[in-house]
Amino acid sequence: MTRVGSAGSDRADHFPRTQRKGPRWGVVLLAAALLLWACERGTDASDARAVAPDNAREAEAPGDEAPRAASSELASQENAALPAGWSLVQAERLSAEQNAQLQRAEEARQDLASTLMGRVMGVVQEKGAPAAVEVCHGEAGVLTAEVGEEHGVRIGRFSEKLRNADNNPPQWAEAMANEAGDRRLSVGPQQELAVLSPIRIAAPCLTCHGDRQSLEPQVARVIAEYYPEDRATGYAEGDLRGWFWVEVPGR
Ligand code: HEC
Repeated sequence: MTRVGSAGSDRADHFPRTQRKGPRWGVVLLAAALLLWACERGTDASDARAVAPDNAREAEAPGDEAPRAASSELASQENAALPAGWSLVQAERLSAEQNAQLQRAEEARQDLASTLMGRVMGVVQEKGAPAAVEVCHGEAGVLTAEVGEEHGVRIGRFSEKLRNADNNPPQWAEAMANEAGDRRLSVGPQQELAVLSPIRIAAPCLTCHGDRQSLEPQVARVIAEYYPEDRATGYAEGDLRGWFWVEVPGR
């Protein structure tokens, strides 16, 4: 019972500060909900599966050893796709120092997700989706670079179906993308820790990433104007839209 009381007073501590910008708060909550949702989806594939779930399943598995063999086989295939000097690593094998790098990567990723979504959804609410596309066009790259600088990491987003062709990832990130949408980690030649995390489509994303025919005509028009080569429509809720990539430097 006392718990309920103290939770309530915690909340009372937080709300007055945030009520100054009442209407925007809805946006922040929405962004936070999306973020949580995305994070959950992003990490639901347990890290133990980080290296090789699918091939392990596909392997003919007469005994216990086969999946494990298949798993390390896939790991080496994937390592081969990575640039020289990079290799996959499982979350549970990270050193203390690498764990600190991972934490920095996750903080940067969450910051980027909430910064971009907060901005986009804020404009959607205040000026409508077509204006938000325009703002996104002008600001997404700048905001991304700022977040990277603030956290001392390289960071970005990419997709197999890009809207903005400038969103091309480092080679390690492309090599780690996988259909299952599992988070992957790898370590580079200078002890960089690289983290690739899935981005999934939630309902509010459909305004700009849903079926082309179902987009508001104004939204479709602005997208076509700014992104004549756009490939980022046709998604449904829950689809893998793309990836956050973060590279944390070694010491
Ligand atoms: C108001 C329209 C709008 C909404 C809503 C929107 N996006 Fe986008 N999205 C864009 C635009 C415009 C870009 C291109 C930004 C740029 O120029 O870098 C983009 C780019 C992206 C990219 C980068 C890869 C690429 O294709 O260039 C990802 C990933 C992405 N969006 C995911 C999402 C997700 C997930 C949601 C929902 C949580 C969402 N978007 C909601 C308009 C939108």
